[in-house]
Amino acid sequence: MKGKFITIEGPDGAGKTTQVKKISDYLRCKNIEVLVTREPGGTALGEKLREMLLTLEGESPVPEAEALIYAASRAQLLNKVISPALKRGCIVLCDRFVDSSLAYQGWARGLGIKELININGWFLKDCWPDITLILDIDPCQSLKRLQGKKDRLEREALEFHKRVREGFLKVQNLYPDRVKTVDASLNPEEVFQKILFEIKKSGIIKM
Ligand code: TMP
Repeated sequence: MKGKFITIEGPDGAGKTTQVKKISDYLRCKNIEVLVTREPGGTALGEKLREMLLTLEGESPVPEAEALIYAASRAQLLNKVISPALKRGCIVLCDRFVDSSLAYQGWARGLGIKELININGWFLKDCWPDITLILDIDPCQSLKRLQGKKDRLEREALEFHKRVREGFLKVQNLYPDRVKTVDASLNPEEVFQKILFEIKKSGIIKM
């Protein structure tokens, strides 16, 4: 694996999409080849699973089914897109990855973080991110940023989103070397500068 794997995580409304764009623009300006993708999704199958997960009306998946559908999308993305790009030497920038499953399904849905590590570890093998940036923000603030029609998870109660935040902080405690939190209540440029600082500190890109 020659490339480097960066993931951006955080609760709904934390500003991940804005930051993914800023990071990819920055890297491309430095002539660094970067592949941007997202979860769930990023492959034809993954996008179908995403639609099922986020727009399904009526019967919701039980937590175990939800965890496995996210894992299915991830396995497909990893094998079809992420691993080949890393082998080519690209920087892969992924909007959400395994840590979302640990925080949302493992902690907020109560399935257990260890259980989710086991399920995902089975197919991730050594392909865990090199660095993960968690955009940390109080859900009372982040949920206000969401505009338009909310998807199935965004419609969850505030209590659920509070547990998601707790879940991410637990993940950071579990993997302090790989996972860094960034205060996402700041303005987008300040958040970006903090992310850049962490990426540079990790040695993934030269200063
Ligand atoms: P987003 O791409 O707009 O952030 O939406 C994806 C939603 O799916 C978001 O609410 C978080 C949720 N999610 C999980 O619950 N588990 C996962 O493993 C992933 C990748 C996302």
